[in-house]
Amino acid sequence: MKRIFITGASSGIGLAIAKSLVTQGHEVWGTSRNLERIPKMPRWHAVRLDLADPLSIEAAFNAALSEAGYFDVLINNAGAGHFEPAELLSMETIESQFQILVFGQIQLMRLALCRMQTRGEGLIINVTSLASRLPVPFMAAYNAAKAAMASFTMSIQLELANSRVYVVDVQPGDICTQFNHSVIKGTCCAACSQISQRCSSTAPNNGWRCIPIKNCAVDFQVSPAARPNLGTQKVLRYMNAISEAVVLMAGEGSRLRGSNKTFLKPFVPVLGNPLISYILDALVRAGIKTVNFVVGYQSERMIAHVKRVIPPGLDSRFIENRDWQKQNGISLLAAASQVGRSFLLTMSDHLFDQSIVDLLLRNATPDQLNLALDRKLDSIFDVDDAMKVQTKEDRILKIGKDLTVYDGIDTGLFVCPPDIFDHLERAKRHGDCSLADGVRSMAWEDKARAIDIGDAWWQDIDTTAMLACAERQLRSRLAHHDIILANAGSDRGNRTEN
Ligand SMILES: NC(=O)c1ccc[n+]([C@@H]2O[C@H](COP(=O)([O-])OP(=O)(O)OC[C@H]3O[C@@H](n4cnc5c(N)ncnc54)[C@H](OP(=O)(O)O)[C@@H]3O)[C@@H](O)[C@H]2O)c1
Repeated sequence: MKRIFITGASSGIGLAIAKSLVTQGHEVWGTSRNLERIPKMPRWHAVRLDLADPLSIEAAFNAALSEAGYFDVLINNAGAGHFEPAELLSMETIESQFQILVFGQIQLMRLALCRMQTRGEGLIINVTSLASRLPVPFMAAYNAAKAAMASFTMSIQLELANSRVYVVDVQPGDICTQFNHSVIKGTCCAACSQISQRCSSTAPNNGWRCIPIKNCAVDFQVSPAARPNLGTQKVLRYMNAISEAVVLMAGEGSRLRGSNKTFLKPFVPVLGNPLISYILDALVRAGIKTVNFVVGYQSERMIAHVKRVIPPGLDSRFIENRDWQKQNGISLLAAASQVGRSFLLTMSDHLFDQSIVDLLLRNATPDQLNLALDRKLDSIFDVDDAMKVQTKEDRILKIGKDLTVYDGIDTGLFVCPPDIFDHLERAKRHGDCSLADGVRSMAWEDKARAIDIGDAWWQDIDTTAMLACAERQLRSRLAHHDIILANAGSDRGNRTEN
């Protein structure tokens, strides 16, 4: 459950987002200038806020903050437009647009930002507009204000590149809301006649809907605008973005190391690069910002080696599992106190196409256990040793190495909700449990789902034969760019979306 402050929750995009959020169990502080316009729903707190009034902004945010304790997310959504030829715009209209769409929103962003920086995490979503890049005729002050807000947002994104406070700029195109009915319309005769003359030439060519104004209705056909829930889907995707991973690397890798006691399995060379480098690159490319490494066997040496290969910009934590000789469920449990939200889970000895991580993160349901599942049963290297899964559509029914009826293989890549830890605790027998025990426990409660990886490739590396096979595959994957080895930065996180 997240605590979210959202402006403009009485109508259009903001109303649709706020409704979705409370339905998903989040706690929402939603604003309007008129409290009567906010629906009365559980977990929905109505807040009066007028972006035209700086004092009301600070008072409203602080009052909501003391009620909430903290905010995980600020959604700067409220806004209004005007409709008038640029040369006839009064300075009051221009100033008002900048107060509502720039100064008021920056004030809110800064109020939220300093608290989020202190907490060390948070998400700010600014709803600007496609008009910041493609100006709409007769909305010059609106276009300019949106462009200013988009540019300010981009600057903050650069400054917070290494922070765990993320800033996203959502730039909707045409969405069917009350917006057009609420615009401030120029009423003087000069404005009416100029708009009527120019609308017939400018607006249709630009594909923009024309707003009927007093005594001067100018309508024409354009393609219908999208419904407000389109914006909602974009915004919710960012709220649920997974930025943290757990990598299990506590075992000794005895089948691969043979009698070599100094051998560290995650550092076995694969086409000349340490195995773990491929995994870390894939995580960085998928937008992971923090990795929790669970170490056990030769932990000090392992930590020293890992530190040398961590890509720039990736935060790392090392968690020691003193019971590393037990099963992998105990290794994951060692990370329980470090991970408070949904996270990506991977093993340190698996290779996989980048597309599998991207697919998993894109399609994961954050409050469920999501497993990347390989249904290409004929392509599994050692099917006897593989973890088998029985599913019904996307639901996981059973999991185990000894299943006789199964339709997929566990790839070792998961998105887990924090309650995996409770399930592992409950699954313990004589102080021990495996990851599969946790998956089984979640499957019994219908909380485990499979995400089919399709044609994508992955390989578990437990033996020298598996390693040789992986190198053959990898050579061709690298040639086709299915796997790319370079410590390049992520394209997710702080970004602009439309
Ligand atoms: N609809 C589109 O095609 C489109 C396209 C691109 C960008 N956008 C942007 O998306 C955001 C939401 O627009 P929408 O289409 O959902 O419009 P909408 O249906 O008119 O909703 C606007 C919301 O903003 C609030 N608001 C307006 N003026 C305010 C002020 N001075 N102080 C505080 N709140 C104010 C309104 O609340 P009260 O009136 O209850 O106070 C209402 O909840 C805006 O920033 C808009 O610029 C919309």
